Amino acid sequence: MDILKAFLPRLTGRQFLMIGIPAVVLGGGLVTGLAVLIILGATGATARPAPTQPIAYDHSLHAGDLGIPCEFCHRGTDTQAAATIPSVEQCMFCHSVVATDRDEIKKITTAFESNTPIEWMRVHRMPDHVRFTHEAHIKAKIECSTCHGPVEDMKTVKQVVNLNMGTCLACHRDTNGRSIGANNPHPISVDSAPMDCAICHK
Ligand code: HEC
Ligand code: HEC
Ligand code: HEC
Ligand code: HEC
Ligand code: HEC
Repeated sequence: MDILKAFLPRLTGRQFLMIGIPAVVLGGGLVTGLAVLIILGATGATARPAPTQPIAYDHSLHAGDLGIPCEFCHRGTDTQAAATIPSVEQCMFCHSVVATDRDEIKKITTAFESNTPIEWMRVHRMPDHVRFTHEAHIKAKIECSTCHGPVEDMKTVKQVVNLNMGTCLACHRDTNGRSIGANNPHPISVDSAPMDCAICHK
């Protein structure tokens, strides 16, 4: 069962009941139910809902309209495992002068002055038994959007790509000895991505 679970989309209990019960009753069986789940999984419809963040920070404004590069705020991506969430200081780079009269910006100023970090809620989270590192993927020229979707268009970031084991393995297998999609605009500098269980599992 565990291995089956790894390939199924993530569902909240509520989504499971909302999709599962009508599918079994109306569709007349488990097969229909599973087919619906797989289609929803592939389209990202069952991805986790966005958590409520302490400040209404908007990626479509900052990374989209203003065009601030992802790496300005997420500094670790090409050198370490974690992409990192920016510190209050990085917001103050602009918000010590920009829009200081607005309520949402006052929350940033208060955090900065009282030296308390902003408690951002995690959107993407691997289970504890999984090891993931950004560095290798960014060095292999894989775009952020491959795994996170079009974040520069999102007002609130939510998980839209189903990052289960099947997704990881599909790309690793494709890269193993071949290249990722011939239509990828960036040359992939590696000719193998690891397939051993121990690379991804602690
Ligand atoms: C001005 C700073 C800033 C820029 C620029 C920025 N981000 Fe973010 N990003 C944040 C903050 C703050 C959070 C935490 C709050 C949230 O989730 O919205 C975050 C969260 C995220 C998350 C969710 C993290 C999690 O918990 O799983 C992803 C994914 C992400 N950003 C990707 C991107 C990408 C891709 C770009 C470029 C297109 C980008 N960001 C540009 C500040 C920034
Ligand atoms: C190959 C897939 C993949 C790519 C490419 C990728 N990410 Fe991630 N990202 C993930 C996964 C998986 C997690 C969850 C990691 C965990 O929980 O250990 C994550 C987590 C994050 C987080 C949350 C904080 C953290 O460090 O865990 C941020 C922010 C983020 N990614 C931003 C980015 C940005 C910006 C880029 C492009 C420069 C990018 N990611 C490229 C898969 C990817
Ligand atoms: C490179 C400059 C820059 C950085 C860095 C930056 N911002 Fe902004 N931010 C802006 C600009 C410009 C606006 C638009 C102000 C306006 O509407 O006139 C804005 C608007 C906002 C708003 C909307 C304010 C409102 O109520 O209208 C919020 C919230 C915000 N930023 C949060 C953040 C957070 C949190 C960070 C750090 C993770 C951050 N910003 C980093 C430039 C920046
Ligand atoms: C779009 C393609 C793609 C996706 C999706 C992807 N990977 Fe990878 N991954 C790669 C490539 C290519 C490499 C090899 C990079 C190299 O050897 O330089 C790699 C390497 C790795 C490594 C080895 C890192 C190291 O330091 O040697 C780990 C661990 C890993 N991936 C975990 C994951 C996990 C977990 C997921 C799913 C959440 C995932 N990957 C999704 C393409 C991908
Ligand atoms: C490229 C990375 C990668 C490789 C290689 C990999 N896994 Fe996984 N595996 C994952 C990820 C990511 C998850 C978590 C999926 C989720 O929670 O949605 C997972 C989940 C699992 C689970 C489910 C645990 C649970 O209940 O959540 C099992 C069992 C598992 N893997 C076994 C294996 C075995 C056995 C191998 C070797 C044949 C293997 N994995 C190779 C990435 C990988």
